[in-house]
Amino acid sequence: MNTVVRKFTEVPVVSSENDVIKAILSRHSVSPKRVVAPGPDADQILELMSVAAAAPDHGKLRPWRFINFPQNSRGQLADVFAAALLERMPDASAEALSRARDKASRAPVVLGLVLHLDHEIGIPHVDDQLVSGGAALQNVLLGAHAMGFGARALSGQAVRTTAFRTALNIAGDEIFLCFIAIGTPTSAPRRNARPAPETLLTQWTG
Ligand SMILES: Cc1cc2nc3c(=O)[nH]c(=O)nc-3n(C[C@H](O)[C@H](O)[C@H](O)COP(=O)(O)O)c2cc1C
Repeated sequence: MNTVVRKFTEVPVVSSENDVIKAILSRHSVSPKRVVAPGPDADQILELMSVAAAAPDHGKLRPWRFINFPQNSRGQLADVFAAALLERMPDASAEALSRARDKASRAPVVLGLVLHLDHEIGIPHVDDQLVSGGAALQNVLLGAHAMGFGARALSGQAVRTTAFRTALNIAGDEIFLCFIAIGTPTSAPRRNARPAPETLLTQWTG
């Protein structure tokens, strides 16, 4: 059995001359606390959907969809976060409810990613469908980064509650995977260390 060495490089290596590889290597998540307006405009959001649509998609099922939460919907989204917290914690304090509500206004652009996985179809297997959603997510994160924005995927506890799923019309066979918060970064990037590449690869020798 191979022992995986959990070795992380201190500083991400951005050594390539290739623009696509440079963009991938320099991408990092930016907390919604560290972004301000402007976020992507309507055309840029559509461009991000084109980028999502370039994700690998076995069987052309497109087993995912995105929801945009425009600014004028954020008050209602705040109500949904409060209801979701009360469902999980009926005795939640006023302060906790206020913090839950604040999540709705955490970035200029907030998208949601919903998966609808077909467990019956067999081929493509549900794993393939799940990975397609992950690839669409990564494409959007990368696309936002390439446009000069900061973005972060965030799920949290609320998204699994009945209050949340009902308010957002998430069907029984759908999974609300995460929000994607996007805006203009206010501070220098905080880059996470990345795994050393050699620790990610083993050689199959038969
Ligand atoms: C689907 C998904 C949901 C996530 N949800 C959360 C979350 O709720 N809270 C959080 O702190 N990080 C969450 N993360 C992790 C961050 O988005 C981010 O990937 C992580 O902090 C690593 O940063 P990096 O992208 O710069 O490597 C989530 C990641 C994914 C892929």
